[in-house]
Amino acid sequence: MASLFITASGTDVGKTFVGAGLIRYLRAKGEEIDAIKPIISGFDPDRAGDSDSGMLLRALGLPLTEEEIEDISPWRFSLPLSPDMAARHEGKEIDFDLLVSFCETALDEADGSLLIEGVGGVMVPIDQTNTVLDWITELQLPVLLVAGSYLGSISHTLTAAEVLDQEECDLRAIVVSESEGSHVPLYETVATISRFLPAVEVIALPRLEPGADHPAFAQIAKACGLV
Ligand SMILES: Nc1ncnc2c1ncn2[C@@H]1O[C@H](COP(=O)(O)OP(=O)(O)O)[C@@H](O)[C@H]1O
Ligand SMILES: [Mg+2]
Repeated sequence: MASLFITASGTDVGKTFVGAGLIRYLRAKGEEIDAIKPIISGFDPDRAGDSDSGMLLRALGLPLTEEEIEDISPWRFSLPLSPDMAARHEGKEIDFDLLVSFCETALDEADGSLLIEGVGGVMVPIDQTNTVLDWITELQLPVLLVAGSYLGSISHTLTAAEVLDQEECDLRAIVVSESEGSHVPLYETVATISRFLPAVEVIALPRLEPGADHPAFAQIAKACGLV
């Protein structure tokens, strides 16, 4: 079955929002789908339901228990910092090889498709030497790049797409998830990114209510080979 690595042009742009929307869309179609978010920083166990792990579990229809959270997000850090810094502040370090083998095991064990949500943007450090880009390169999965529509996002998005291309990553689609309060037109942003990346499908996702359905999710699933 197809699987997908969800990364982004930066943090807080919509990886979890898009991942959860994809999960709900696929489940509604009767598709087997699972998800992991191996590294999470800024994690507060008292507010686990609001965390990325909590949102993914809810979309998957799984209970919000410590065990389920541990299963999908084994590397949890309390400070909202890049993973390497957040780990260091707790006197820890993320073992990159263990991270890769955790994902490979999850891919092997998944009955259907598996979504892997990265952390932050494409080149966020994970340890002293590896970034999310190295993680993607090791796993060799199709990639979905989530971007915002804030002013400045076009450069961030084209830069992210460029480094993915340099590493010969299989970039399947870019989703521009409309940024809150942005005055930059969403569809013009999509058209501009498409102009510079004619070979990549660029999909607009307007601001939605939490949990809302939207035709963009079907388009993303198709572009990423999940259906
Ligand atoms: N298209 C959208 N419509 C409504 N809210 C969105 C949309 N995209 C992102 N958000 C919201 O923006 C915030 C950041 O998104 P999130 O998915 O958590 O980003 P990331 O996982 O990339 O850090 C969340 O509150 C999320 O619900
Ligand atoms: Mg997230």
